[in-house]
Amino acid sequence: MKIGILTSGGDCPGLNAVIRGFAKYAYENIKNVQLVGIADGYGGLIHNEFRLMKEQDFVGILNVGGTILGTSRQPFKLMTVEDDNSVTRLDLMKQNYKKMGLDCLLTLGGAGTHKTAALLSAEGCNVIGLPKTIDNDIWGTDVTFGFHSAVDIATECIDRIHSTAASHGRTMLVELMGNKAGWLTLYAGLGGGADVILIPEIPFSADKVAKVIEKKADAGKAFCIIAIAEGAMTIEESKMKKRERLEKRGGDVTATAALAKHIAEKAGVETRVVVPGHIQRGGSPSAYDRVLSTEFGSFAGRLVKEGRFGVTVAMVNGKVTYNALADIAGKAKLVPPDAQEVLTAESIGIYMGR
Ligand code: F6P
Repeated sequence: MKIGILTSGGDCPGLNAVIRGFAKYAYENIKNVQLVGIADGYGGLIHNEFRLMKEQDFVGILNVGGTILGTSRQPFKLMTVEDDNSVTRLDLMKQNYKKMGLDCLLTLGGAGTHKTAALLSAEGCNVIGLPKTIDNDIWGTDVTFGFHSAVDIATECIDRIHSTAASHGRTMLVELMGNKAGWLTLYAGLGGGADVILIPEIPFSADKVAKVIEKKADAGKAFCIIAIAEGAMTIEESKMKKRERLEKRGGDVTATAALAKHIAEKAGVETRVVVPGHIQRGGSPSAYDRVLSTEFGSFAGRLVKEGRFGVTVAMVNGKVTYNALADIAGKAKLVPPDAQEVLTAESIGIYMGR
């Protein structure tokens, strides 16, 4: 049996751990298995770039960050666009799936990857997805691999900001990844003891945030930490189209810098902005993610053995299971405004922007 593996979209800790978990299961349990590593995500499938892997290739990668296969972003909306010869990327992928002689294909990726996986599956390829992303926003799974590693890193960033914020008596805004989903900011904000947590799902009032900081300063709290997601926006901005929002920000992509300025002016405190950026996606997976990735990878092996395709691996109520690709593709798991974590934050006096 010949199985292709690709990792697509933004990388995250745990990709190699999933690949390893799957490979170990496959070599242990599937007769005459051959694993094909497809280079750079769907890019490799489009351009027919792959290599036959050896068992040795999967040794020593459990704790290694990134992906041994390489990755790329291949926008879903371009998959069905015809080139000059009336050929689409989807056509090329289907052709190369056949040329490579694959019996099935594993796609490790986030929301966009799953949409393309569903498309390939609908076109007759045997596909199994694996839910990867630091954003934790894939529909139908309680958790994605990579999320908890990123939470640990982001929490450590906040911890480190705490001491310098306290020394200088400043309000520090830590901008964390998450354009549409605020899970990472919510968890790192809770884990790092932020005073204010601002996420895309709950638009905020800059005036109210400034008042909260002013009140804390008046009450003797010399420093404050604000965990803000890159996709957070003011109530006013939330009513705008993306382009309009960016124009209003006058060169800033996120709302963070303007909020820092507003707080400094209104609350009379010194502010600083810190953006950990891709540090949140780099390095080793946490122990939690190594275990989760091994569970997910080996479970995908079981699905291959059983011949169950057109699905993606998921964790539901503590049990590893699967969902149909067609059921989850195109949906996003955002933070519900009444999520338990949001209510917990508010119950201990963390300001969530509303
Ligand atoms: O999807 C994961 C993610 O890290 C998002 O949180 C972030 O908005 C985006 O990827 C950044 O993408 P890139 O690596 O292409 O800059």
